[in-house]
Amino acid sequence: MIAIHHRKTGFSEKWIEYCKNKNIAYKIVNCYDNDIIEQLKGCDALMWHWHHTDSKDILFARQLIYSLEMMGKKVFPNTKTSWHFDDKLGQKYLLEAVDSPLINSYVYYDKHSALNWIEKTTFPKVFKLRGGAGAENVKLINDKNEARGYIKKAFGKGFGLNRFAPLKERVWHFERDKSLKSFINIGRGLGRVLLPNKIKKNLPVQKHYMYAQDFIPDNDSDIRVIVIGQRAFAIKRMIRKNDFRASGSGNIIYDPKQIPLECVKLAFDTTRKLQAQCIAYDFVFLKGIPKIIEISYAFNREVYLDCPGYWNSSLGWIEGKFYPEFFMVEDMIDILQNEMDN
Ligand SMILES: Nc1ncnc2c1ncn2[C@@H]1O[C@H](COP(=O)(O)OP(=O)(O)O)[C@@H](O)[C@H]1O
Ligand SMILES: [Mg+2]
Repeated sequence: MIAIHHRKTGFSEKWIEYCKNKNIAYKIVNCYDNDIIEQLKGCDALMWHWHHTDSKDILFARQLIYSLEMMGKKVFPNTKTSWHFDDKLGQKYLLEAVDSPLINSYVYYDKHSALNWIEKTTFPKVFKLRGGAGAENVKLINDKNEARGYIKKAFGKGFGLNRFAPLKERVWHFERDKSLKSFINIGRGLGRVLLPNKIKKNLPVQKHYMYAQDFIPDNDSDIRVIVIGQRAFAIKRMIRKNDFRASGSGNIIYDPKQIPLECVKLAFDTTRKLQAQCIAYDFVFLKGIPKIIEISYAFNREVYLDCPGYWNSSLGWIEGKFYPEFFMVEDMIDILQNEMDN
């Protein structure tokens, strides 16, 4: 029996559909229940698409997952897949530990060391917060002076919710689409300045650390590859106008011929090393060599529905549209089946 925590707009809708269609025994559970461990005693597995901007989820998702693993339950995402989710600091250590080609990344936990570092390093650099998506917390810092200002804030009042970010994002969408819908959305962005998203408002202020990466120049796009078990699919995301950032730009190319296979191979290799179930990789190229920007177990499902096919782990192409969520359940069922057979 597979337990599924249902969240609208997440992966669970398709997980449930798959189980229904294939007559797989499942039950809907609520991970926020106090007696969730008790409830899961009769189940073999839990699938929960927990979200990085939900302050409730991040309070206990990792703790619940690990505890279930200690009971011998299978979980999607499991610890190896998700402990570093929305945590660029965690990813830095992890990818360095397994010798994966992460862009050179720097972290400092006190102001003095951070200020010392900017005296010695080169610019531009890309400064980031440990969490966030759609490039909202990613900033190009051009020189020492700018870096000093950033560091002062990082070790001072820190970075809270940016009330203007949703508005800026919507103005960009209007520039890109010039549609009535995107125009109306600007109004919604204005609303968010006055009345920020309740869930995001509750996220902790980011401070007392500084994280940066070398800026990799001359990339008009990034490549995003998602590995789920023995399958990989990918998109190319063009950068925004007058910007270096691709994620969240919404300018997406689905043509598999535009995806360098070395990225797909690297994504498979790294996922194997991390022993993870499902990982999305962002790549840019440094003098023709792919470098990892960041990794993530979760992704916006809708974006990938237009992928025309996927690769298997021998890099063979399998043509045809698919639901990534079905792959997640298929792998879960495989593992449970294997356990029963042994
Ligand atoms: N070190 C870097 N060099 C060049 N471009 C980068 C670098 N880091 C990020 N970018 C660009 O900025 C985008 C957002 O960065 P990323 O770290 O993936 O943040 P997010 O978690 O918000 O997606 C990437 O999609 C990429 O286009
Ligand atoms: Mg990204």
